[in-house]
Amino acid sequence: MKNILVTGGTGFIGSHTVLELLNQNYRVTVIDNLSNSKLESLKRVETITGRNACFKKIDLLDVKALEELFSTNDFDAVIHFAGLKAVGESVEYPLRYYKNNINGTVNLCEAMVNAGVKNIVFSSSATVYGDPEKSPILEDSPLTSVNPYGRTKLTIEYILQELHYADDTWNIALLRYFNPVGAHESGEIGEDPNGIPSNLMPFITQVAVGKLPELKIFGGNYPTHDGTAIRDYIHVCDLATGHLKALEKLDENPGIAIYNLGTGKGSSVLDVITAFEKATGMMIPYTITDRRSGDAVICYADVTKANNELNWKTHRDLVDMCRDSWNWQQKNPDGYL
Ligand code: UD1
Repeated sequence: MKNILVTGGTGFIGSHTVLELLNQNYRVTVIDNLSNSKLESLKRVETITGRNACFKKIDLLDVKALEELFSTNDFDAVIHFAGLKAVGESVEYPLRYYKNNINGTVNLCEAMVNAGVKNIVFSSSATVYGDPEKSPILEDSPLTSVNPYGRTKLTIEYILQELHYADDTWNIALLRYFNPVGAHESGEIGEDPNGIPSNLMPFITQVAVGKLPELKIFGGNYPTHDGTAIRDYIHVCDLATGHLKALEKLDENPGIAIYNLGTGKGSSVLDVITAFEKATGMMIPYTITDRRSGDAVICYADVTKANNELNWKTHRDLVDMCRDSWNWQQKNPDGYL
């Protein structure tokens, strides 16, 4: 599989995956509606790799454009990142999330069926485990969703599984990401959130760069070693290589499979602050406030399945993640502009 369509390829995880694909000599076409990302990310990927991807500004709700795209290309597989991803916004505008994420995926799959392309890697999330009863979390743990964003991820997983049950020539990898952070070591591409970040790492880097006064830690009395909530942070470059391994898997061992992509290691909010201070020498002022509604207490992955079946593992630790996030933020204090 050498000719890959990447939906949402200008976003945070998409751009890092495109970089890795180009480095490995894949032919890459990126489609994106640029609603939440900038084309500049792809330009920088091309500069870093010295290779080009084909870009088309296409919205997955545009059925005609998708048909045209598939009729004029011969894709081997699709990596599907495109989707809205802000939890708070999804609660405020649920229909926007259902329409964009679910209808968009159905349109994509229909275009794939019509073109006879039946290999897909889907960008799912650990959000499908809700507030898990125990960690490390295995792929067959109970699933739930606590907000419209999470429900779109879970629903798309079900849609793709049902596609495979109806036609087992579909080859599908559902990748459940834990908490992607970090940036490419060049500092040229990274996470570029709109407005005030709701995720921890971009919030910390914006405090460090002086754009925000202090971090508010959501909850200091959780039943954890230091009272703050625990997550499985994974470097976006390690996450990106997981997608290439998933493509190889679809080739060598067809069928449908679900994989957790994390490090398998839990870190508290205070652990992240300590690692950030170690990596950068910067102090992060913080106060502890109320818990954020809907937050899990402890959520980290069992990554044995991905390690064994994808022959994939992570190489970067929390200090690396903090150093690279900070490098990106420092070089690009206002994102891609
Ligand atoms: C959040 C989403 C999750 C989504 C994921 C995508 C919620 C409730 N969950 O996950 O559905 O899949 O992002 O990346 O929004 N924290 C602070 N202060 C902050 C920001 C975060 O203390 O200003 C804490 C959080 O309480 C949490 C940890 O940092 O314990 C990580 O938060 P975050 O980066 O938002 O990720 P998740 O909550 O795991």
